[in-house]
Amino acid sequence: MELKDQVALITGGTAGIGLETARLFVREGASVVIAGRNPERGAKAVAELADGPGSARFAAADLGDLEDVRRLAEDAGPVDILVNNASLFPVATTVDQDVETFQRLFDTNVRGTFFLTAALAPAMLAKGAGSIVNVSTMAAVMGVPGASVYSATKAALASFTRTWAAEFSPSGVRVNSVAPGPTLTDGVVVEWGDGVAELGKSIPLRRTAGPAEIAESILFLASARSSFVTGANLAADGGATAI
Ligand SMILES: NC(=O)c1ccc[n+]([C@@H]2O[C@H](COP(=O)([O-])OP(=O)(O)OC[C@H]3O[C@@H](n4cnc5c(N)ncnc54)[C@H](OP(=O)(O)O)[C@@H]3O)[C@@H](O)[C@H]2O)c1
Repeated sequence: MELKDQVALITGGTAGIGLETARLFVREGASVVIAGRNPERGAKAVAELADGPGSARFAAADLGDLEDVRRLAEDAGPVDILVNNASLFPVATTVDQDVETFQRLFDTNVRGTFFLTAALAPAMLAKGAGSIVNVSTMAAVMGVPGASVYSATKAALASFTRTWAAEFSPSGVRVNSVAPGPTLTDGVVVEWGDGVAELGKSIPLRRTAGPAEIAESILFLASARSSFVTGANLAADGGATAI
């Protein structure tokens, strides 16, 4: 088991890519805290993960609320692995973008992720070990119509990855990103509809990913298999950003 005795926090661990990541982590022996807003979804996910050999529990938190972020860090920490996966991804063209949603996207995807990491990093640094994985997107480096604000928040995350690697890795804490391409999750279908499948047809692998495929990349970066990798961005995008 690759994550035996490791404690991991996965934000947005109750659905999609986060839930598949939690499944792999539990399989590898980790004690996993999955965070999300909806307790019913959380309870259902915990029940799915109950077979071990690791364990899972749910912590309710809205990453867009700084008080929730502070409480989540206190409840989940100290951790060995932090997967910053939760995010909002509503579609809006630039000319149709409303200010409230713009703000909510930055509060959740950028501010919440930043202050959660800032709260959990000190214990990792004191221990001299740890792995942080930011879930970005191919859209951080590609122009995708309707995704201007979302993509900008994820470009911010990619920037955090580089800065945090520079700040934390001298103390033994690795920080990396995974940048998925179109991945068939319930959440993305609600927001993007057929657009996800269409995007999948246009990339070199000519299909969408399953969330479990992205989870494998996250496990790689979270585990000791990537022990000499820090500050990197792993494009799990079916070749989208290669062309
Ligand atoms: N699917 C794709 O095509 C794709 C492509 C590139 C990148 N990504 C990235 O991959 C990550 C996961 O995406 P996904 O498709 O798996 O999403 P998903 O199926 O919609 O799941 C999102 C998860 O995040 C939680 N969440 C959402 N807003 C939250 C908030 N404000 N506070 C706390 N938790 C919150 C959700 O639970 P609650 O709703 O209960 O809070 C859920 O557990 C995201 O960062 C996304 O940007 C996805």
